[in-house]
Order: sequence, then structure tokens, then C-alpha cells
Amino acid sequence: MTGALPTAASLYERVRRVIPPIEWPAFVDDIDAILALKRERNAVVLAHNYQTPEIFHCVADIVGDSLALARKAMTVEADVIVVAGVHFMAETAKLLNPGKTVLIPDLAAGCSLADSITAEDVRLMRQRYPSAPVVTYVNTSAAVKAESDICCTSGNALAVVKSLNVPRVIMLPDEYLARNIAAQTKVEIIAWKGRCEVHERFSPADIRELREAHPGVTVLAHPECPPEVVAEADFAGSTAAMSDYVGRHKPARVVLMTECSMSDNVAVEHPDVDFVRPCNLCPHMKRITLANIRSALEENRHVVTIDPRVAERARWAVERMLFV
Ligand code: 13P
Ligand code: SF4
Repeated sequence: MTGALPTAASLYERVRRVIPPIEWPAFVDDIDAILALKRERNAVVLAHNYQTPEIFHCVADIVGDSLALARKAMTVEADVIVVAGVHFMAETAKLLNPGKTVLIPDLAAGCSLADSITAEDVRLMRQRYPSAPVVTYVNTSAAVKAESDICCTSGNALAVVKSLNVPRVIMLPDEYLARNIAAQTKVEIIAWKGRCEVHERFSPADIRELREAHPGVTVLAHPECPPEVVAEADFAGSTAAMSDYVGRHKPARVVLMTECSMSDNVAVEHPDVDFVRPCNLCPHMKRITLANIRSALEENRHVVTIDPRVAERARWAVERMLFV
């Protein structure tokens, strides 16, 4: 038996805790149009945990952290994949689905980490440390992935490093992720100098102030935060790991040291948890809107393409990670 098809009106119940009634009418037309366009075009929307709730809870078919999006992208049967996320995520979806149309609603949705390193930089690192394999964070261009031995995400970085069974690895490009992983292993980690512009702004002083203002609050941090922040947090993990932590531990009050929409999206699932919200916005993630998801489907834009010679090598590094 198939249930009634969703409409914007039927979806509001889901997000009413995080979208005030006064804001909702502005979303209705685009949501209904996107739901119809997805059926017409046999399309799915993949949305990262940092997308706003009207995207994440109302038009997305597949949601998660970078690792989950990559894994689930491999099983998509639709003809068209719209990525509600940033450009490297759309490239990863294309690498794993070379025969499908992959669309990114705004080509300028970048990432400060992806911008911090080029393929030439990776080649130079290899020359400097010839025996060390290159572990590359998925927050990079396909050209950088193509120069790498294996990719990782914040969700599997430690497992990827351990899987290589070597005394020393190069881990690019997030300096803080590399240092946070180095704190958990004896493997020597050679880092790059990239930073996430959202997570580098959190400080240990922020955590101390939060604990003072909200006694008993549980502090969760993303591993792109500085190591001093991770050291003061109660738990550090990928966006999916933070979400799982809230589901498993049900803290009375929690703060997520990460991008702002994450708390909204997790709060929808856990009405009994109180979310304290100092957060930082990712301007790149916020370039994706219902309006440009709709235009992406209506006008078939912007089609993600990757040079086949680059794609073959980059796909190998991504797929290798998925088997760890
Ligand atoms: P996750 O892989 O944890 O979802 O992180 C992606 C990201 O861009 C964090 O800033
Ligand atoms: Fe890149 Fe940071 Fe934005 Fe994630 S939050 S997409 S790492 S700039």
C-alpha cells in the first residue's frame, strides 16, 4: 500500500518546533514545486546535516554527514541527484555516480578547507615525505583527491589512518582534524595548514562561559575545531556522530560546537532535549536555498562535471575509503 504523497502542508508538523508559523508560508510554494519536480525528473535531493530545516526535513531524500552522503550516493537509483551541500560533496556524488546527472544549486557553494590546497601542493608534500601515504579529507577538490592514496571524513579518519598500518601519514588539508586524530594514535601525522572558517572560531573560553551560564550542559564538538576546544568538550565527532550522541545519551541540555543549522535539525528529532545555541554559520552551506534547488531541477543546473582522467584516480581514493 502506498501512502498519500507529501505536501508542504503535511510536512509542517515535522518542523514546527524550529520554523515559526510566520515564516512557513514563504517556503510552501517552493516545497510543493520541488516535490513535484522530483517525481517528474526521477530525482533525489541529498542534503548535508548543515542544511536549513525546510531543506533537510521537507525536500531531502537522503541526509547525513559527508560519509553517509558518500555511502548512500552509491546506492541511488534515480536519474538525477541534486546536492544540497557544498561543491566537494557534489563532486563526490558525481565520482560515485559517473553515469547520472548531478546538480549543485549554486556553484559558489565552496569550502575554506577545499580552497586551502591544490593538486600541486599535494605533489610537493609527496616529494618532501616520499614514504608517507597521503590521506585526504573529502573536503577537497577532485583534483586533490586524485593525487591521494585514500580519502577520509571526520567520521572515519582514525579508522582510515589505522587501516594503512604505517608509522607515518600525510593528512590533508585540515590542520585541526589532523591534530585531533594525532592525539588518538601513535601514527605520526604530517599536517597541512588548512582551516574550516566556521569551526576555527570556537575557543576553549567559549566552552568555559557556556558551562558557567548553563551548569550541567553537555558540550559536543566537531573535530574541525581547534584541539584545545575538543579537549574541553565532552565528546567530539562528525556531524552524524554528534546527532547519534544526542539520541543515545539524551542529555537534558546540550550545545553543539558546529554550524548553526545542525542544532535545528537534531532538535526536530529530540523535542525533550534543550539545545543551547551559540553557533557559527557556514556561508557556503547557506548558499543553498529552496529557491535554487527548485531552479536546479527546473533548469537542469549546475551540472557537475569532472575531467575523466582526474575522476578515475579521485574515485579510487574515495572508494578505497568506503571499504575501510
Ligand atoms: P561531516 O563529515 O562531519 O558532516 O562534516 C562536514 C563538514 O563540512 C563539517 O564542516
Ligand atoms: Fe567547509 Fe567549514 Fe563550511 Fe564545512 S563548515 S563546508 S568545512 S567551510
